[in-house]
Amino acid sequence: MLIKKAEDVPSSEITPKSLYLNRRTFLAGTAIAGAAAVVGLRLDEIASPPMTARANTKIDGIKKSSFSTNETVTPYKDVTNYNNYYEFSTDKYEPAGLAKDFKTRPWTVTIDGLVEKKQVLDVDTIIKMAAPEERVYRHRCVEGWSIVVPWVGFSLSELINKAKPTSKAKFVEFTTIEDAKQMPGQRGRVLDWPYVEGLRMDEAMHPLALLCFGMYGEALPNQDGAPLRLVVPWKYGFKSGKAIVRIRFAESQPRTTWAEMAPNEYGFYANVNPNVDHPRWSQAKERRLGEFLKRPTLMFNGYDQVASLYSGMDLKKNF
Ligand code: MTE
Repeated sequence: MLIKKAEDVPSSEITPKSLYLNRRTFLAGTAIAGAAAVVGLRLDEIASPPMTARANTKIDGIKKSSFSTNETVTPYKDVTNYNNYYEFSTDKYEPAGLAKDFKTRPWTVTIDGLVEKKQVLDVDTIIKMAAPEERVYRHRCVEGWSIVVPWVGFSLSELINKAKPTSKAKFVEFTTIEDAKQMPGQRGRVLDWPYVEGLRMDEAMHPLALLCFGMYGEALPNQDGAPLRLVVPWKYGFKSGKAIVRIRFAESQPRTTWAEMAPNEYGFYANVNPNVDHPRWSQAKERRLGEFLKRPTLMFNGYDQVASLYSGMDLKKNF
C-alpha cells in the first residue's frame, strides 16, 4: 500500500526485490558452479540455505480444495520476505526480520456486535473448528504485484455460522492487533491504528473467503499474519487483515483503515477490477513476483464465481 507522499513512486514501477535477488542468485550461482567444478563438489553440497528458515509447525490433516488454482506457486522465500505489514514497517523487506519474535500465543479473538452469543475464543479453539484445507489462491496487491500462495485454513462462513449473527447483521468488521511494544511501526502514526477491515455479510459468507492460519503446509509465519488472518482472493490484498483479534457483526458499513486514509484510492469494496484505474496508476496489469513481464489482470482476480454478489452495482463507483 502506498501513502501519498511526494517521493512515492508506484511500486508497480519498481523492480521487485525478488527479481533482483533472483538475478543475484543466478549470478552467484554461476560463480559457485565454476568454483564447484574446480574443487569437484556437487552444487547441492554448497548451495546456501533458503532466506527464511522454515521452523514453523507443520499442520496435520490438510485436505486439498477444489477452489485451488493450478498456476505455479510463488516460492516461499518471496512470499515470506516481501510483505505489506505496516505495524512492523512500511518497507516490504523488513517485516520478516522485525516480526521474528512477535508473540502469537496466548491469543484470543473477541466475537461481538450483532451475534446471539458474544464470546472471547482462544485462537486454537478457532483453528480446530473445521478441517484445514489447502487453498492455492492468486493474491493481488493494489500496488500491482501478485503472488500464488497455498494458504491453509477454512471458509470464514464456518466461524460465522457458529457465531450465529442476528438478522440485523449486514457487515463484518475485522480488527487486528494493536501492540506498539512489539510492533515498531505502531509507534508512529503512519496509519490510524489498529488496522481494521470489513466485508459485507454476503461477501464474508462466500465459500472462497478464507479464515487462514497456515501456508505451505505449516503455521503462518508472523510476517504473513500469524496466528490468524483473512484471505479474500477476489479483492485487493489490503482487505485481508493480518493478526485478527476481534470480529464484530454490524448493521452499518464499518470504517476501514485504508478507505479512511485515502478514500479516493482505496474503496471499501476493493474488488480487483482492471477496468478501474487507481488515481495514480493503471490496474490493468500486474507483475507476478519472480517474473519479469507483466500479465493482464483478471476481473475479480479471476474468481468469476463472486460476480453475482455485485450484480446491479456500479463497480466503477463502488471500487
Ligand atoms: N494486515 C495488517 N494488520 N497490516 C497491514 O499492513 N497489509 C495488507 C494486508 N493485511 C496489512 C494487512 C496489504 S496492503 C496486503 S497487500 C496484504 O496484507 C499482504 O499480505 P502478504 O504480506 O501475506 O502478502
